[in-house]
Amino acid sequence: MKILVTASSKHGTTTEIADAIAERLRAAGFEVVRQAPQDVVTLDGIDAVIIGSAVYMTQWMETATSFLQRFETALNRIPVWAYSVGLSGVPKHSPQDPSRIGPVLMKVHVVHHRTFPGRYVPSKLSLRERSIARLAGAVEGDFRDWNDIDAWTDGIIKELSKPSR
Ligand SMILES: Cc1cc2nc3c(=O)[nH]c(=O)nc-3n(C[C@H](O)[C@H](O)[C@H](O)COP(=O)(O)O)c2cc1C
Repeated sequence: MKILVTASSKHGTTTEIADAIAERLRAAGFEVVRQAPQDVVTLDGIDAVIIGSAVYMTQWMETATSFLQRFETALNRIPVWAYSVGLSGVPKHSPQDPSRIGPVLMKVHVVHHRTFPGRYVPSKLSLRERSIARLAGAVEGDFRDWNDIDAWTDGIIKELSKPSR
């Protein structure tokens, strides 16, 4: 079974999560294609997709949304998992799906959508980004929970390993 793991990211937080998911899938014996959404030219031969995007100003990144539009038909024929990475509500609460991205965005039927907490490191950002993040009350730190990400991936592995697939 061949799985595409793809993610849109500006500052690496979301791609590092995609890399961890891809690695775990490979360790479980799956063939994994790891590509940026804008580099994908076909889904022929792909049996499942995991797509992630960082959230900026309550939106998924354009490369991720246009991937969903370009491949809408093909994606609706195979299982798709999606994750968002954001800081809305973090660290006080678990991260919120800022503008109900899961349901609104997905013309594609997804098995499951998760929002993972991301990372805010001001020194990596432009002045403009820093100002917006500060105004939004972002707290400095890396809030990714790798055990949680592994557990989510294990759920996908379990689902894809079912004999009916
Ligand atoms: C300018 C700016 C706007 C952001 N807007 C949101 C937002 O609307 N909702 C949210 O949950 N997180 C928001 N974030 C937090 C980012 O999603 C978070 O830093 C994420 O880890 C970035 O991922 P990346 O490194 O893959 O680009 C914003 C961050 C910046 C710098």
